[in-house]
Amino acid sequence: MQKNKYTVTAALPYANGPLHLGHIAGVYLPSDIFTRFLRMNNHDVTFICGSDEHGAAITLRAKKEGTTPKEIVDKYNKIIGQAFNDFDISFDIFHRTSAQIHHETAQDFFKVLEEKDHFTKETSQQYYDEEFHQFLADRYISGTCPNCGNEEAYGDQCEKCGSALSPTDLINPKSTLSGKTPIMRETSHWYLPMQRHEEWLKDWIKEGELGGVQQHDASKWRNQVIGQCMSWIDNGLRPRAMTRDLDWGIKVPVKGGDGKVLYVWMDAPIGYISATKQWAIDNNKNWEDYWTGDRKLVHFIGKDNIVFHAIIFPILLKSYEGLILPDNVPAYEFLNLEGDKFSTSKNWAVWLHEYLESYPEKVDELKYVLTAIAPETKDSEFTWKEYQTRINSELADILGNFVNRALVLTQKYYDGAVPEVGEFSDYDQEVLAEMAAIPDRISKLIYAYKLREAQSEAMNLARLGNKYLADMEPWKLIKDEKNTKRVQTIMNIALQITANLSIVLQPFLPATASKISTFLNYSNDQWSAAGQHNLLSAGQPTAKPSILFQKIEDTMVEKEIEKLNASKTNVPQFEPQKEEASFDDFTKMDIRVGTILEAEKIKKADKLLKLLVDTGLDKRTIVSGIAKYYTPQEVIGKKVTVLLNLAPRKIRGVESQGMILMAENDKGELSFVVPEKEFHPGADIR
Ligand code: 2FM
Ligand code: ZN
Repeated sequence: MQKNKYTVTAALPYANGPLHLGHIAGVYLPSDIFTRFLRMNNHDVTFICGSDEHGAAITLRAKKEGTTPKEIVDKYNKIIGQAFNDFDISFDIFHRTSAQIHHETAQDFFKVLEEKDHFTKETSQQYYDEEFHQFLADRYISGTCPNCGNEEAYGDQCEKCGSALSPTDLINPKSTLSGKTPIMRETSHWYLPMQRHEEWLKDWIKEGELGGVQQHDASKWRNQVIGQCMSWIDNGLRPRAMTRDLDWGIKVPVKGGDGKVLYVWMDAPIGYISATKQWAIDNNKNWEDYWTGDRKLVHFIGKDNIVFHAIIFPILLKSYEGLILPDNVPAYEFLNLEGDKFSTSKNWAVWLHEYLESYPEKVDELKYVLTAIAPETKDSEFTWKEYQTRINSELADILGNFVNRALVLTQKYYDGAVPEVGEFSDYDQEVLAEMAAIPDRISKLIYAYKLREAQSEAMNLARLGNKYLADMEPWKLIKDEKNTKRVQTIMNIALQITANLSIVLQPFLPATASKISTFLNYSNDQWSAAGQHNLLSAGQPTAKPSILFQKIEDTMVEKEIEKLNASKTNVPQFEPQKEEASFDDFTKMDIRVGTILEAEKIKKADKLLKLLVDTGLDKRTIVSGIAKYYTPQEVIGKKVTVLLNLAPRKIRGVESQGMILMAENDKGELSFVVPEKEFHPGADIR
């Protein structure tokens, strides 16, 4: 078997929120399976990931959480890294793009490209938010996608159809900071003239379509990847800005770069290189060995990342010179959840770290289900019901049942020792031949990135074992002494199948494979051993097994669905519209802008504040039920809306001469209602 060298990367997740099952099913789990398999085949492999800590994804999140970008990336790098660890994703390194070594690497990359004249510098009019004093690129601007009509496309990309965009492509653009229509303002940036690369890109993508120069299945790109790339090229490649007017990111390291940072999609993929550098330093290796020569670079990504990995990053790599381009870019479609898209903003998600907190012992169960439903060629869906069915009727009833039977019967008949094998029947031969064929089939599927089928093929070995025992019924044969030898052979075969399972399951269900190994007192991490029927020798002791997979109860499914529904950010339920009011009814109300001059608590009334309000006409006392939401100190000087001509009434002994109008949300929280402009007290509201 030819040994190859691989650098496998998994898309760097933005450190702006935790990971949900959609991320795992479509990037991290498949890349982990692929890498584990490569290691078992003794390929020289390094598996790279880290968190993506720049760009608007981060700064906007910081704004939302009312904190700094630094705090956001530190917080989520930790949560994400811990979740990967607990889910046993076998990265060689989980790095971060805020690291010094990454800043240096990305800046060096930029300088090299600048020196080699691979950028153009252009001055142009760009969208600008006057209120926030900021240029709007990427996620700072949204609007309608010109290609698919998605109304929530960003300035650099439409996540719905995957097309890469420029802010000026958006129909009806709006600032995501102020929500307003931006103005145009002049600025200068470094651009990557992508049109210069059209010819070689076309040829290279064509190669990907055929499976590389050698036309290997392993190097055949998925249709979706080819399709997106070609449609991008066919629409005409244009210069793309590689810098931004922002203060969070990697400083542009050349003259004229003050106040500008690298475009996050330039810096992030270079993160694969800087992570490799860090790993190489930690392990006494040369990082260049992992990015040059006859090594295969494989990028596992989600479909919304295709153009960045299959067009832009390859252009950067090629322009830098001397570094390898990806051999394949296995891109995954999206996973949905219970009939809806995963959505962070609506909190419609199953978060990996929460799952692991609740079910730390069910790591392989989740891996199994996610691989079984992985969105390899089309979008797919996770439901808790299917999670239950797959675990109960596949993992428990087939795999768990077979392994348990084989080991329990061995305990019972032979005190745990592997029995001698006798002569094989025709049926035995057939079963053994089938077992021998399975590893190769799995192998071909994994090399072709068909991990869903590959796992199902591995499960076929458990199915084969289950059927073998059910057909042979050793528990009946054992009753007659003349069958002693036959039962020994049957049980030996069943145990050899079990040993094979401990090998072929390793890439998919590493913890389960290791449990089976412990039961058998046998462990082998060499893929080449799989398929053989003499892995265990006669007399070898085996242990009493424990149950591999507990069945999933209905109550767990119900609980999880309830949790999902409860956590969904509810569209607030408000009172229905009130009875019609005439215009006259409305004009009777005298509503004005006022300013609070003084405020104090009213004794023994914890909800009430006594306010002195300047109404523009006079200064009057108003009692207001806002004490739970505002302290006296913080309301002094605030603008408010006052209903002036409400009949005075006594509240707790104080005469209230009007009413402060408040907005109330679905949780009953109160907020002042104020004019957006600085209006004087007395201004009429109508
Ligand atoms: O889409 C994303 O989540 C990006 N953070 C992926 C970056 S992959 C790479 F280029 F670093
Ligand atoms: Zn679109």
